[in-house]
Amino acid sequence: MPQIGENLLKATTLLEADELVAIPTETVYGLAANALSDAAVVKIFEAKNRPSFNPLIVHVVDVAAISKYADLDPISLKLAEAFMPGPFTLLLPKKPIISDLVTAGSSKVAIRVPNQIMTTKLLMLLTFPLAAPSANPSGYVSPTTAQHVQDGLKNKVAYILDGGPSEVGVESTIAEVSGNKIILHRTGAVSAEQIAALTKLEVVAADDSEKPLTAGQMKSHYATKTPLYIGDIAKMILENQDKNLAIISFKKVYYGFKTGHQYVLSPTGDLKEAARLLFSVMRSIDDFQFDMILTELFPNEGLGRAINDRLGRAQEKNKS
Ligand code: TXA
Ligand code: MG
Repeated sequence: MPQIGENLLKATTLLEADELVAIPTETVYGLAANALSDAAVVKIFEAKNRPSFNPLIVHVVDVAAISKYADLDPISLKLAEAFMPGPFTLLLPKKPIISDLVTAGSSKVAIRVPNQIMTTKLLMLLTFPLAAPSANPSGYVSPTTAQHVQDGLKNKVAYILDGGPSEVGVESTIAEVSGNKIILHRTGAVSAEQIAALTKLEVVAADDSEKPLTAGQMKSHYATKTPLYIGDIAKMILENQDKNLAIISFKKVYYGFKTGHQYVLSPTGDLKEAARLLFSVMRSIDDFQFDMILTELFPNEGLGRAINDRLGRAQEKNKS
């Protein structure tokens, strides 16, 4: 099993030798490699069993470093200064130093400045940026702890830097400035409303069918092994009394269901708390033999939208 620890020097040495190191970020854990080395980047695709057409996010230490790897137009710069470091990724025209392997042949590169102290220190010690997708086998729920990474990737990662549980718990918002609009490629903790308020531009959802490159948008993604259903939980309980049920609710408690069978993500109705716990809960349920997961739509605001998006993708698996 790969070692879990807080040894930044060890992480640096491994990354310099083109090895894979899992890194903590405030969104989810990433599976990192030297973004400027194709020999290193190729190992990410192998370890995750990730299709080579699905491009990787490049992680840099601060906003000033972005322009080494991409062209920053004035609106993108404004977004970067407002939301980075943070759970926010910009899609930008790439400079030649970023290889086609990282971008899967696209002329755009996704760049993010993570806001996690250990990973910031690591990026300061390195002379190159880090390509890092979420540190889970392709298609499964993203990891929010070092243990999740070890459970999923086992010996496929050389070392796991442990920065504690991820603060935000869902992947970054991905946005792209396109003409006089902002295209939202993925929902996250930075909301469409925040982006619109800052730029005074219209924010439009990316069209899945036209963007086969954005695999965060591939419908069946982030899926639990246990089939998951979104709807009226009370009604679904009545319809499935013969089944071994697990429940994920926002704040409501369902009587007659023991701990371990039901997870109330935030009794006080705090969407941030719910988002932070969501992926851990999905993984815990998968550790047991449940027939189905019953869940509901969360309030369609702020992080509730990101939660609904991830639940929707997990449910999609049942249809395929
Ligand atoms: O919060 C996050 O963004 C985490 C942490 C580790 O930084 N990373 C993450 O990476 O979620 P990943 O690979 O699981 O999701 C990145 C998404 C993918 O859906 C990918 O297709 C899209 O970003 N993406 C990356 N580069 C792109 C590009 N050049 N063009 C279009 N989409 C891109
Ligand atoms: Mg992912």
